[in-house]
Amino acid sequence: MPRTTEQIAELQRKVAQIQSWYHRIDLGDGIETPGHFRMADYLRHYRLPERMDGLRVLDVGASTGFFAYEFERRGAAEVIAVELPSWDAHDWTPRQRAELAAKSATEKRKVDREVMVDGFTVVGEALGTRRVRRIWKAIYDLRAFELGTFDLVFSGAMLMHVRDPILGIQRLRECCRPDGRLIVSISTALLDQPEPLARFVGEWNQCNWWQMSPACLDAVLQCCDFAHIDHRDRYTLQDVTGRFHDPTYVCHAFPRR
Ligand SMILES: C[S@@+](CC[C@H](N)C(=O)[O-])C[C@H]1O[C@@H](n2cnc3c(N)ncnc32)[C@H](O)[C@@H]1O
Repeated sequence: MPRTTEQIAELQRKVAQIQSWYHRIDLGDGIETPGHFRMADYLRHYRLPERMDGLRVLDVGASTGFFAYEFERRGAAEVIAVELPSWDAHDWTPRQRAELAAKSATEKRKVDREVMVDGFTVVGEALGTRRVRRIWKAIYDLRAFELGTFDLVFSGAMLMHVRDPILGIQRLRECCRPDGRLIVSISTALLDQPEPLARFVGEWNQCNWWQMSPACLDAVLQCCDFAHIDHRDRYTLQDVTGRFHDPTYVCHAFPRR
């Protein structure tokens, strides 16, 4: 049903109320969320199945939800979007954690709401979502006995925020059906050479720990029981200002059957 003028104004108001958007998402009626990254411009690099009818999908580190809602748009039967329960729940260093602890409860709640919660909710309401559900967990706590298994597990641009990406990938594998697949992207400036290199980044104020070379990510995926890597691609993610450049590696990993 087309939106009324009042509904359009109300949606514009809700979008404008949120200060921190990660994704630019087209909500119709000329309304776009004012995020940093328009992922629609980079979708071809992810080689998502054109149609995802009937699939059960896990989107880990969903942020403001571009990918989760894209999976639903492509027909996924169920999308579970995973996000950390709070800003504090990132893998911060003790020093950064102490700085965060010094913030007031009101300030913390505002960040949690604006960065972790509200954007995703507003997009879901605007798109009339029916098959996307969000849960609050760290990647380490994704267990198949609790969540079941998925045809498609997706992890976009989040493994660099994780102190133990190998345990994280083990969890992604646990949640992936034997005939399913993981689609994973990482930020990495390391070259695509045979030697599997990981570089400690240590930008602890941004919670960035590791950069893995493409060969390193492939090797970790294989050691975590993914048999076959395919659809390897690289691209440079830019924010909407064009000032921020993030070299990115994407691939699909298929479990050992
Ligand atoms: C850079 S954003 C990527 C958003 C989206 N996946 C994409 O590709 O556009 C990374 C997201 O991962 C989440 N994240 C960071 N550490 C996490 C962890 N340990 N477990 C689950 N999610 C995490 C962050 O809160 C953030 O929403």
